[in-house]
Amino acid sequence: MMDMMNRIKQLKEEKNAVILAHYYVDADVQAAADFIGDSFYLAKKAAETDADKIVFAGVEFMGESAKILNPTKHVYMPDAHADCPMAHMVTIEKIKEMREKYDDLAVVCYINSTAEIKTYSDVCVTSSNAVKIVNKLPNKNIFFIPDQNLGSYVATQVEGKNIILNNGFCPRHHIMTKEDVLNAKKKHPDALVAVHPECKPEVLEEADYIGSTSGIIDYIVGNDAKEFIVGTVDGVYATILNQAPDKKLYNVVRTQVCPNMKLNSLEKIINVLETGENEVFLDEEFMNKAKAPLERMLELAK
Ligand code: 13P
Ligand code: SF4
Repeated sequence: MMDMMNRIKQLKEEKNAVILAHYYVDADVQAAADFIGDSFYLAKKAAETDADKIVFAGVEFMGESAKILNPTKHVYMPDAHADCPMAHMVTIEKIKEMREKYDDLAVVCYINSTAEIKTYSDVCVTSSNAVKIVNKLPNKNIFFIPDQNLGSYVATQVEGKNIILNNGFCPRHHIMTKEDVLNAKKKHPDALVAVHPECKPEVLEEADYIGSTSGIIDYIVGNDAKEFIVGTVDGVYATILNQAPDKKLYNVVRTQVCPNMKLNSLEKIINVLETGENEVFLDEEFMNKAKAPLERMLELAK
């Protein structure tokens, strides 16, 4: 492994490349990254970097967003098949139908969506800024796509808005139930519950804390309590335990893995740096259209 780390370091210098990694990838991949974070942090880093090449250890929508925000850079995905199923869970027809129905509609697009869906949207959000951004929009009617769970969480946090939900979901988070949380609480009665807003409302109701991956990490690391039931993908455990090795972390369900994020590996990072394979290419006109909602997010999240 040390050999691979050294090779990555050498290639990064040679190619003037930067590695961005989401908290959900494996710990060894996180360790090779220049920046590790949640979706919002990584989108900002992608927009700001002056490196020539960005290797994005995440899933497709993250690589696409990096390319759209910084189009002169070369962006590479370690695995061309690392995609997020939720990114495809809304149709253009549905968006058009809603626009016809409501005059003042704002289409608010969770960043976990394809570049094409972004071109039909007014503003992007991530789980860490969705409430803030929806609150700032002048529109009463909001079509929140694709995630029904983040959308319904936002609806509980804003006033005077009509949040119209779409039926998308993250398979990893949507599978957790209230009963699973109650069972975990029975096994670990002293543990606090921290969950991601991609979980169902019935799960959020049982939580002591609801937030993005970096929100969950900060909550646990900064908390005096020692035990936590964690309702998100277990990639976050590596960062938490690096910063606070004495914490005890428990799953809500037996397996909390995102198989798409898991496709990233050190070998594949070396391969794309050496060969230039799996570069993200998008049509220029298409990128210009998808850039507007992403830039509006960066502006409104300030
Ligand atoms: P955040 O990075 O905003 O916490 O979202 C988690 C996620 O599912 C990314 O795919
Ligand atoms: Fe998509 Fe869920 Fe994986 Fe995040 S955890 S990338 S939302 S499938």
